[in-house]
Amino acid sequence: EKGGHDWFMLKEIAEQPQAVADTLLGRLGEDGRLVLDEVRLPDQDLRDIDKVFVVSCGTSYHAGLIAKYAIEHWTRIPVEVEVASEFRYRDPVLDRSTLVVVISQSGETMDTLMALRHARDQKARTLAICNVNGSTIPRESDAVLYTHAGPEIAVASTKSFLAQIVACYLVGLFLAQIRGIKYADEVAAIVEDIRGLPQAVEQVLAQMEPVRALGRTLADADTILFLGRHVGFPVALEGALKLKELAYIHAEGFAAGELKHGPIALIDEGTPVVVVVPSPRSRESVHGKVVSNIQEVRARGARTIVIAEEGDDDVLPYADHVIRVPRTPTLLAPIVTTVPLQVLACEIADCRGYDVDQPRNLAKSVTVE
Ligand code: M6R
Repeated sequence: EKGGHDWFMLKEIAEQPQAVADTLLGRLGEDGRLVLDEVRLPDQDLRDIDKVFVVSCGTSYHAGLIAKYAIEHWTRIPVEVEVASEFRYRDPVLDRSTLVVVISQSGETMDTLMALRHARDQKARTLAICNVNGSTIPRESDAVLYTHAGPEIAVASTKSFLAQIVACYLVGLFLAQIRGIKYADEVAAIVEDIRGLPQAVEQVLAQMEPVRALGRTLADADTILFLGRHVGFPVALEGALKLKELAYIHAEGFAAGELKHGPIALIDEGTPVVVVVPSPRSRESVHGKVVSNIQEVRARGARTIVIAEEGDDDVLPYADHVIRVPRTPTLLAPIVTTVPLQVLACEIADCRGYDVDQPRNLAKSVTVE
């Protein structure tokens, strides 16, 4: 049943190219246009939207954080992202021209469901991104875009996370298409890049043996820090969450630029620091700034584990370990950079002798507030 893998989580990590491909299936038209007939919100309503909220929990919240970068860039609509458990209690400003996107693998998360109900009460338009057909959250939403990741058994979300990110890209590009935007050429090009994502994930998976070996050397760590910038920041948060929930190791993700505002004081001799490096082609040299951050933590004794694109040799002088991912456009990079972090957490937890699929204190679907 685990398809030759030790854990469902490893099987589900391996299924990610398929999860991404299936979530795209039939939704990218030949002419570079998006076909999302299932999003049954009238075009005029979508044109009238002047603000988007993305509301979700845990890993699904991290997908929302990535969605913000993509949707704002492609549509110029302001996007706010919030954990569902906070959303409705602070009286957010919602009306008919607000689109609330709720993301939930299970479709049964109570915090997210209550946030959705609140949004509906306030007359906002609601769109669910969900992996379980016919579950409560999509049933109560105005529209639904299903992720087609297939059943996810392991408590830790992996393939459903990649599928959620892909669904968020589709929502952003669809909104851009309907509203007609100034980045039309860029959007057409990105649709082509998205088609290549399943293969890119395949390439990352083919290089995971050294990552597992590296994981075995980290099993005794007391704390592991994760740094990222731009879309790499939510990826860093996700890497830290995976490690906490599976390996019970203290882990924290930071925006790399925040390091100097406090967290750098945590770095001690041998502290492992995982850095998600943006593409050298990213905007306004954030790449160079993250390379400087690697240098800074290394100078203070950190053991640096660097996730960088093929061919990015700028990181080499400061990296104790380099994990390579294929060249990917900046906004799409989380699809490849997340995978090694999943494998790392799984391997560390396994090495520590824990049940990777059923971590302590956690349930697959959290149906209480
Ligand atoms: O089913 P949902 O996507 O609504 O679940 C949200 C979180 O409970 C979930 O992502 C949780 O953080 C996972 N265990 C993370 O691996």
